[in-house]
This record gives sequence, structure tokens and C-alpha cells, in this order.
Amino acid sequence: MEPHAGGSRSSAVQDETVTHKTILVGDSGVGKTSLLVQFDQGKFIPGSFSATVGIGFTNKDVTVGDARVKLQIWDTAGQERFRSVTHAYYRDAHALLLLYDITSKSSFDNIRAWLTEIHEYAQSDVVIMLLGNKTDMASGRVVKREDGEKLAREYGVIFMETSAKTGINVDLAFATVAKELIGRSSDLPHEPKFRIRDTAEVKKRETECCFFT
Ligand code: GTP
Repeated sequence: MEPHAGGSRSSAVQDETVTHKTILVGDSGVGKTSLLVQFDQGKFIPGSFSATVGIGFTNKDVTVGDARVKLQIWDTAGQERFRSVTHAYYRDAHALLLLYDITSKSSFDNIRAWLTEIHEYAQSDVVIMLLGNKTDMASGRVVKREDGEKLAREYGVIFMETSAKTGINVDLAFATVAKELIGRSSDLPHEPKFRIRDTAEVKKRETECCFFT
């Protein structure tokens, strides 16, 4: 069954007891706060750029099939000066959404450094999703979709392109993370999923919007 965010209450839906800590990371200005606001409130406030200071979270339930998954989504500050604060939150994260801006080459180039940092501070079985945001700005695009896909494949992480402005793929991104978290909780404990060095033999399944390893 396709995952979907939210959804009406039904007696068939099983509430998960675990809350999955999910963290938004990436350079300043890539759209982390906007993505979370779009997911949480279904709206986009244009031109409202005020850099996040420190860290804060929003609780959100996502329905996947007949399970309701509890996500505690943390919005971090992308600015370098807050980096030591956000590192402390990586360790008990179950999922990380790593964003770049498709109109900013530097935000994409910095993804490798973010992944190295994640490898250093996060658990090895953390679910990682790479998101190329701001797809509504097609004329300003400087990062090709294929380059995002290629990088994600190299590191064995899920990939999707989103727009926090139009909402395209925003619910789907969180629903996909929730689905992956459910899948992984039934896997062997501590089985490493994220490969930073071993980039070979990535098993992939492509769909219209995204792929899984
Ligand atoms: P930090 O808090 O500094 O880490 O930044 P951030 O990653 O949270 O970025 P934020 O959500 O504040 O967005 C930065 C700017 O980009 C704002 O002016 C947003 O309105 C704009 N923006 C974010 N997402 C999108 C998008 O998908 N499309 C467009 N067109 N603009 C976006």
C-alpha cells in the first residue's frame, strides 16, 4: 500500500508506541524550515527567510498502511556557527532528511561533507533521505536531478526532489521515511545501512519520484 501522511482515524490503524526522531539538516537557506512548515501546516510563506537559530521540533503522525508512525521532526540551523549544537542531536536520530537547494551548486557540493559528518555522529542504521528542494524554481536550476540521484546511489540513501513552495513530494518524503523506519525496525539490530566507504553493489528500485536502496 502506498504510504500517506495524516489520514482519518480508523480502528484498523495501529498506533506505534515508539517515537522516531527525525532531523532536517543541510546548508542554511536550502528550505528546511519551509519544508517542515509545508508538511505540518500545508502552507508556504514566501520570502520569509529568517535563519533558524538553534533547534526545535514538531510532532507529526504519519499513516503507513495500517500503522500510525510517530515522527518527532527536528529543524536544525544550517549555519556553521550552530554546527556543534546539532551534532549532539545526531546520535539518537532514527532518520535524517538531508536537503540541498537545486538552484545552489554550493549546497549540493556540501552534501558530501554533511554525509561525512552524519557518518561520524549518527548511528550506522539511521535512515537517510537526500532531498533536492526548490524544484518550482526550474529556470534557476543548476543541479541536475540525475546528479542528485547519482550521489544518493553512491551513498546508498533514498533520493527525492521536493518543493516546499508547491508542496510537491513533501508528504511523500516524510511518508517514505516513515515506511522505511517501519521496515528497518523489523531488520536485524545494528545492521549498518548507510555506506560511506563501501559504495559498491547498491541495490536500487526506481519509481517515478524516488528510489530505495
Ligand atoms: P536555516 O534556518 O538558515 O538553516 O535555513 P533553512 O534551510 O531552514 O531555509 P528556509 O526554510 O528558512 O528557506 C530559505 C529561503 O528559501 C526562504 O526565503 C524560503 O521562502 C525559500 N524557500 C524554501 N523552500 C523553497 C522552495 O521549495 N521553493 C522556493 N521558491 N523557495 C523556497
